[in-house]
Amino acid sequence: MIAIACIDTKNGIGKNGKLLISIPEDMQFFVENTRDSVVVMGRKTLFSFKDRKPLKNRINIVFTNNDELKNEYKDFDNIFFIKNEAELDSLLEKYKDKKAFLIGGAKIYNNLIGKCDTCLITKLDKAFDADTFFPDLEEHGFVIESESENKTYEGINYKFIKYKRG
Ligand SMILES: NC(=O)c1ccc[n+]([C@@H]2O[C@H](COP(=O)([O-])OP(=O)(O)OC[C@H]3O[C@@H](n4cnc5c(N)ncnc54)[C@H](OP(=O)(O)O)[C@@H]3O)[C@@H](O)[C@H]2O)c1
Repeated sequence: MIAIACIDTKNGIGKNGKLLISIPEDMQFFVENTRDSVVVMGRKTLFSFKDRKPLKNRINIVFTNNDELKNEYKDFDNIFFIKNEAELDSLLEKYKDKKAFLIGGAKIYNNLIGKCDTCLITKLDKAFDADTFFPDLEEHGFVIESESENKTYEGINYKFIKYKRG
């Protein structure tokens, strides 16, 4: 799988169930990369989307222990609720012709980073007041493969960095 995340200088990714910042070019990067793919997430990340709706044009796989959600989302044909890695593996096998992205949040990144060989990181050059964090890339054996030029949005510098497991 490919992890995709926007992180700050301290690996912060969110606060109070929300993103730290919404950068239009980063949103566009996410949309373009994940279009027509499988996206794997935690229930809190699903609930952070507009109207709690699954992402269009993607197969949404959501980790939750809440059995009620299947019923609540019964009108959507692009969402699956799962409880464990075995269920994830069988869905990834079913959709093996598509790319699969790990899209957060912290709990899911930390539990499943071992299943990723690539991380697409939007790196913010600022320390935000975050309460949720991405795992340490170096500790997990990731090295930089390529990076974009520096960019700026509302005074915050950032760049896109592609990591591969070394
Ligand atoms: N910067 C970024 O790129 C980025 C990307 C995504 C999210 N975020 C941010 O990250 C934050 C959310 O992260 P989070 O860690 O709080 O939540 P999360 O990982 O999105 O979701 C956690 C939930 O997933 C379910 N879950 C996780 N592991 C499970 C397992 N093994 N089995 C069954 N269910 C499991 C549980 O749902 P139930 O409680 O329903 O059982 C758990 O409460 C938000 O602030 C969000 O904005 C940032």
